[in-house]
Amino acid sequence: MRDFISMLDITQEELFEILEMTEVLKEKRKRGESFHPLRGKALALVFEKPSTRTRVSFEVGMFQLGGIGVYMDSGSSQLGRGEPVRDTARVLSRYVDGIVIRTFGQDRIVELGRYSKVPVINALSNEEHPCQILADLFTIREYCRELEGLKVAYLGDGNNVCNSWLIGAAMVGMSFYAATPEGYEPDSFYVEKAKEIAEKTGAKIVITNDPIEAIKEANVVYTDVWASMGQEGEVEKRKELFMPYQINSELFKHAKPDVLFMHCLPAHRGEEVTNDVIESCRSIVWDQAENRLHVQKALLAKLIR
Ligand code: CP
Ligand code: NVA
Repeated sequence: MRDFISMLDITQEELFEILEMTEVLKEKRKRGESFHPLRGKALALVFEKPSTRTRVSFEVGMFQLGGIGVYMDSGSSQLGRGEPVRDTARVLSRYVDGIVIRTFGQDRIVELGRYSKVPVINALSNEEHPCQILADLFTIREYCRELEGLKVAYLGDGNNVCNSWLIGAAMVGMSFYAATPEGYEPDSFYVEKAKEIAEKTGAKIVITNDPIEAIKEANVVYTDVWASMGQEGEVEKRKELFMPYQINSELFKHAKPDVLFMHCLPAHRGEEVTNDVIESCRSIVWDQAENRLHVQKALLAKLIR
């Protein structure tokens, strides 16, 4: 494993190694122990879309590991003025020990990875959000101990988070139900890949338009925004279409009584989730957000040498 551009870049073994390492790093942090395996190392954070969690958790995580994060956005770097990503990759590789990038097309990250001499990490693209899924799996494991066999219901848009979730769920042997409006199903490439992996791990992958089928007896209910970054023009059109997939107390009743509610955040209360559900005792969204920090530290420690 050199880059982490897609969930498909890691093996099941590497995934569990990262989860184990995350547990160790989180414990160390809680005990106030310092751990500086990346002393003297630098990480470039290239963000072509906004971020709160990903940016801060990578920057702080790098600092806690003894290194430094250097933030660049398109407005204040030459990328925004059209400098090719392949040139940026070759230049940054001369300064830093790793590159984290949030951008539009996954192909842009793949190109960066091809030209970079240092590890490249996908911090969200139109197609995937793999760091999010690492944190999500770690969080569920903290609450449920085992991942295998749990039913996860993902309701809403079959977007980047859903695509990466398909692969993650398949790798750990979960039952993953994605319920979306017609025409908003996850990318068939990821569905097919997930089904292939599921044949080996015993996972179950179901894509449906029926929110009840998905949420019924679920251990985890997950949602994300109905319109992702870059789709702002579609917000109004999507609201009506997606309403049957809103996680509200009525729909939530169909899940298991001890169900966990998750959301990668930012949340739009009154759209994909109601205020009472996200603020309920079943919601673990703050732990989920915190774990971005711990899991990404494990990932950085593994990739940057
Ligand atoms: N979940 C997530 O990636 O949040 P940000 O957009 O704030 O980084
Ligand atoms: N699907 C969302 C995730 C935000 C963290 C987006 O791409 O905007």
